[in-house]
Amino acid sequence: MTGRRVTSRRTLLALAGASAASIPARGEGAEGLHARAARKGLVFGAALEPRHLRETGFQEAFLAECGLLVGEGAQQWRRMERDPGRDTAADADFLAAFAAEHRVLLRGHALWWHRAIPDWARSLDNAAFRRAAEARVAAAGARWRGRIRSWDVVNEAVRPVDGRADGLRDSQFPAAFGPDWISRAFHLARAADPGAMLVYNDYGFEHALPDHREKRTAVLRLLEGLVRSGVPVDAFGVQGHLFGGAPFSATEWRGFLRDVAALGLTVLVTELDVNDRLLPADAARRDPAVADLVRHFLDATLAESSVRGVITWGLADRHSWIRGNLPSHQRTDTALPRPLPLDDDLARKPMWHAIAAALDAAPSR
Ligand code: XIL
Repeated sequence: MTGRRVTSRRTLLALAGASAASIPARGEGAEGLHARAARKGLVFGAALEPRHLRETGFQEAFLAECGLLVGEGAQQWRRMERDPGRDTAADADFLAAFAAEHRVLLRGHALWWHRAIPDWARSLDNAAFRRAAEARVAAAGARWRGRIRSWDVVNEAVRPVDGRADGLRDSQFPAAFGPDWISRAFHLARAADPGAMLVYNDYGFEHALPDHREKRTAVLRLLEGLVRSGVPVDAFGVQGHLFGGAPFSATEWRGFLRDVAALGLTVLVTELDVNDRLLPADAARRDPAVADLVRHFLDATLAESSVRGVITWGLADRHSWIRGNLPSHQRTDTALPRPLPLDDDLARKPMWHAIAAALDAAPSR
């Protein structure tokens, strides 16, 4: 990454003798998160939309902090093929070009996800849906073959509360392909882009809560089954949508990560952020609580050598999906959620410092 514009600007600042205290808080100056991660053999990155890169100062902040980018929504099937067979991937291509130009790694999200099926495909019969879903993998793979570091091949397929014996979610994928649909996705993805790290990505198991424990068991069962049957899955993506105020147990969590690693899988934290709806409105109290949770979570996670990267779901609070209108994200007061490492002015928050400290403390890979 030495050729990056921001790196040389940082070097200039260092040569000019800028001290940590005098450094502007906009992601310039003190070493960024990816540089800290890279020293440990880790990657740090964030999800984004092309429109964010057109906002003043954001590109610089992004490049100062990140060595990897992933499309927040632009690489989804419903965004890339808005009508049957019509190529609407301009946003996704823009991100790929930006990544290449600035030499940051490119990650893909997601090939098959029940929430990203285009409307037109939802009404197809099973045979037509199978053809369309298979074509989606082939097209996305061919488009960026050799340029995508890792693909979320299947996203969020485990859902014990759906009541199936296998713990998997009811969706159009099992309806159309049958119970082996996940293995089908990975085989197709490997053929479509043999060099990409193939990831199973999911959420809702990070905390020490009964439903999170139940989901861990179901996810582990799925991963064991895939590995045992020789399915080409390389990695497990821990989304890391943490919940401020919910209990976290480092011991439990590390036990789970070790079970996953014992299958020979790499682990990535793929969508880190903190839902702060139950935390105090006052940012002076809320930010440290968010940072504390992130520090505990990352210290435990990065202690496991199977973990190779940390990706946040957005970089600055103002872009976070947690500011959208999902009921589970709504605060009961008028304070805006503060789920990410940078604030609305792109200044580093306590969560940024928590990530930096966890990366600095992580053992080398
Ligand atoms: C959110 C995004 O922020 C939106 O832009 C997207 O289109 C849908 O919801 N798990 C995932 C992400 O895998 O794709 C979700 O992203 C957040 C939860």
